[in-house]
Amino acid sequence: LCQKKMCLYILGLVAVWFVYRWYRETKRVSNKEDKYVYITGCDSGFGNLLARRLDKLGFRVIAGCYTGKGEDELKKVSSNRLTTIHLDVTDSESVSKGAAFIKTLVGQKGLWAVVNNAGISVPSGPNDWLTIDDYKPMIAVNLLGVIDVTLSVLPLIKKAKGRVVNIASVFGRISPFGGPYCVSKYGVEAFNDSLRINMAPFGVKVLCIEPGFFKTNVTDTIMVKNNLMKLWEKAPQDVKDDYGDVLEQLDHRFSQLVDGDLMKVVGCMEHAISALHPRNRYSPGWDAKFFWLPMSYMPTWISDTYFVKNSPRPKISVL
Ligand SMILES: NC(=O)c1ccc[n+]([C@@H]2O[C@H](COP(=O)([O-])OP(=O)(O)OC[C@H]3O[C@@H](n4cnc5c(N)ncnc54)[C@H](OP(=O)(O)O)[C@@H]3O)[C@@H](O)[C@H]2O)c1
Repeated sequence: LCQKKMCLYILGLVAVWFVYRWYRETKRVSNKEDKYVYITGCDSGFGNLLARRLDKLGFRVIAGCYTGKGEDELKKVSSNRLTTIHLDVTDSESVSKGAAFIKTLVGQKGLWAVVNNAGISVPSGPNDWLTIDDYKPMIAVNLLGVIDVTLSVLPLIKKAKGRVVNIASVFGRISPFGGPYCVSKYGVEAFNDSLRINMAPFGVKVLCIEPGFFKTNVTDTIMVKNNLMKLWEKAPQDVKDDYGDVLEQLDHRFSQLVDGDLMKVVGCMEHAISALHPRNRYSPGWDAKFFWLPMSYMPTWISDTYFVKNSPRPKISVL
């Protein structure tokens, strides 16, 4: 009887804690119309949806677009509060020009938030299919771009006691496939964590979003398949001899995982920007919550056994 009472007591405490957390997280910041939010990679996907959503909520959005077409299309569907700028996060001149423009736009208010969203996902494939030149361009966008953009506007964010929101990935927590994607996202996590500690005394919050697989350009099955074909074609003959024909298996598995509800991710980004008490980390997607993250806490031999079993099997495998 005593054990039963104890269990009920603990369950009650957990329930109270969840209700308290839920209530705390419903509170939102005030004066949205005075708050500037700078988002990178707004041509498509999460960045585009977030820019439109924040614009509707009344924030002053500064949307970094990679292409002129992206800028024109976004302007057509948003209010005149939203400003677009051309931004290539790999080009330091473009990043500094963007920061200088933002400085004059926001004035004494400072910048409420920067959202590091721009990213690419190919080339991805087994590491022994790749060369160092396959790693550099993605690290330039996904990691160095995040650092450059953040540092370029950090003084403005400190002024506003604002936020840095980094879009990492569950593949910043676990690395089940080769290539620069996981390497770059682990780097984003490391930058995010040290910056969060550095910025705490200034009242600046640094938040990280770690989505699972969602249906956007970066997970497009045809694009991913074409990329693998390209890597395969240029792989040295001895690598091809080792692997035999593995392309079909890779493509098939990948296409089964993607979630079409992008608002799960955009909702987390919006919360990170607008909640009075945002979370340090968000992991949108059932696959992130119930597969990738739990897997990342497993002993290495368990996760390795699973991933080796479900990875392309070289023709000359010894396993
Ligand atoms: N989709 C997922 O399953 C998933 C999961 C975890 C994390 N993420 C991350 O979420 C972020 C957004 O990706 P998404 O899924 O929304 O895909 P997306 O639609 O391709 O969005 C990425 C955006 O970044 C832009 N971009 C590419 N290179 C750039 C550069 N050098 N400078 C500035 N912008 C550049 C792209 O422009 P163009 O379209 O003109 O190339 C595009 O608008 C990425 O960081 C990605 O790694 C995605």
